Amino acid sequence: MTKSSESTADSALLIRKAAPRDLPQIVAIDALVTGIEKREYWREMLRRFARRDSRRQFLVAAGSAGVAGFAIGEVRDWEFGAPPCGWVFAIDVHPQLRLHGVGTRLLQAICDGFARAGVTRVRTLLDRDDPLVLSFFRSQGMMAAPLIPLEMELPAAAAEARRR
Ligand SMILES: CC(C)(COP(=O)(O)OP(=O)(O)OC[C@H]1O[C@@H](n2cnc3c(N)ncnc32)[C@H](O)[C@@H]1OP(=O)(O)O)[C@@H](O)C(=O)NCCC(=O)NCCS
Repeated sequence: MTKSSESTADSALLIRKAAPRDLPQIVAIDALVTGIEKREYWREMLRRFARRDSRRQFLVAAGSAGVAGFAIGEVRDWEFGAPPCGWVFAIDVHPQLRLHGVGTRLLQAICDGFARAGVTRVRTLLDRDDPLVLSFFRSQGMMAAPLIPLEMELPAAAAEARRR
């Protein structure tokens, strides 16, 4: 995308349900952000989440120049004993199109879907060493939740993975 086509796309962006034709641009944006191309993963995410259903949402912000960003969210019922709650577990905006409100519009659309699905709370999980994503979610009004993520290594599986 050139800078001028970005500006044009930015002014005319629509938030809509992701479609199979968006796959190449979703894969490309994610690869730019994470450095890893995961075509099969994103194909599967489209299959599972791009539905006519506000409990499972895969949305894109798209204009004439293509996809500027995307977000995925899901309502999860009674997970860890908590009442049904909306979870946002991916949000990505093309690095050259950031700071123009695209992320805000995507998150708002996901939250509108959650509200239509009847939930009153939205949660997400992020790397505590990621100040960009933290600043974004804080700017949207999100605050620390009363949850603690825990993890441990499975020694045998980790040793096997290191051997591969
Ligand atoms: C986080 C992200 C989605 C924000 O998208 P965006 O379109 O730039 O966000 P917006 O323009 O709507 O910004 C909204 C607010 O977020 C905050 N924010 C966004 N980018 C910021 C930055 N670089 N530094 C500080 N605050 C920032 C600001 O408060 C901003 O409001 P302001 O412009 O009035 O100051 C985008 O930066 C991104 O995709 N980052 C990579 C995400 C990632 O790693 N995803 C993989 C794991 S899910």
